Amino acid sequence: MLVPKGCLGKGPPDGKLAFFNWRGKVVRDFTVLAYDAYSEAFPEPFSFADPLAGVGARSIRVALECKKSGHLFVNDVNPLAMEAARLASQRNGVHGKMSFHAEEAGLFLAELSGRRERVDIVDIDPFGTPAPYVEPALRALKDGGLLSVTATDTAILCGIHPQVAFRKYLGVPLRSEYCVEVGLRLLLAMVVRKGLAFDMAPRPLFAHADQHYMRVYCSFELSASKANLAVGHLGYVLHCFKCGHREASPSAKERCGRCGGTMQAAGPLWTSDLHDSYFLKRMSASAREGPFLRFLTILDRASSEVGLPPYFFKLPKLTAALKSPGHSPSKVVEELSKIGYRAAVSSVDPQGIKTDASIEEIIAILKASNP
Ligand SMILES: C[S@@+](CC[C@H](N)C(=O)[O-])C[C@H]1O[C@@H](n2cnc3c(N)ncnc32)[C@H](O)[C@@H]1O
Repeated sequence: MLVPKGCLGKGPPDGKLAFFNWRGKVVRDFTVLAYDAYSEAFPEPFSFADPLAGVGARSIRVALECKKSGHLFVNDVNPLAMEAARLASQRNGVHGKMSFHAEEAGLFLAELSGRRERVDIVDIDPFGTPAPYVEPALRALKDGGLLSVTATDTAILCGIHPQVAFRKYLGVPLRSEYCVEVGLRLLLAMVVRKGLAFDMAPRPLFAHADQHYMRVYCSFELSASKANLAVGHLGYVLHCFKCGHREASPSAKERCGRCGGTMQAAGPLWTSDLHDSYFLKRMSASAREGPFLRFLTILDRASSEVGLPPYFFKLPKLTAALKSPGHSPSKVVEELSKIGYRAAVSSVDPQGIKTDASIEEIIAILKASNP
């Protein structure tokens, strides 16, 4: 990868330099696995648009590493970034399948849809919120296309400034120990709701996060009737800060059924699964073949959380309240499973337990199994 000298510093560039985020490697690794999983059954190579490409690191990896990558439209408003991307594509021998553009992302995507050059996959990877780019990205997608969306304003999605979250993500976050999962669900709900306005029915495929980003993969099929059904997957997570009870609900309600305290509502969120089991199987199969074996833990955890409620319990928070020493998350999952509950370690927090058991039942297990 060719990166212009001086753009490796910390924080966003000053406008003269191009942007390269060395921390983005893991996200790009997952991108390759996800796009391969998505395009596995394609008879033809897939087309790809990267409207906020920086120096083109993701596009070049997609061109080089994805088994079925076809034409790639690479764009960044910064012409210096595009110059670097073009040079890097030549060095890597993939320039023949790429075109380079230096336009505003929304305009670039509108032109793709205007010219009826819609693509199979669009990736949105801005500084901060992806909100302004989702609608033009959806317009530029083919029927059945895949949208991958990154948000780096994780503090907003975690509830630091709820008004900003409401403006950008059309809903309310939850400042809690499982704010990352709620943030992912709020991000996905925003993407889904923008699609529903175009009669595009969503199929969430995979989501992941760390402290610097949240990212979702969702495909869309043009179908008003399926879009109507998708509305049923939007709802709220209600949390009682008095007793720690939490639940998913189609509507916001005020009183905690456990202690009578006030329930705080987060949403509208995507409250059904964040991942598709079959898609994860295909990602895992690719991960086993290539240099991505280390991602199997996250993919396995994502697989185990399918069908579980849209929140988790953070073990250290529970054990601190009980003044009990640390417990192993996998041991607690095992204990919950033994007595008939579904449980898994969260894919976004190794100390998070996702389960259909209530907080009382988890506490009972922690008390009974003091290490
Ligand atoms: C987070 S970086 C992209 C990183 C890149 N996708 C990667 O994998 O390394 C965001 C990029 O968006 C570009 N950008 C910001 N606003 C833009 C806009 N409105 N239109 C097009 N590009 C924009 C910036 O110049 C920057 O290079």
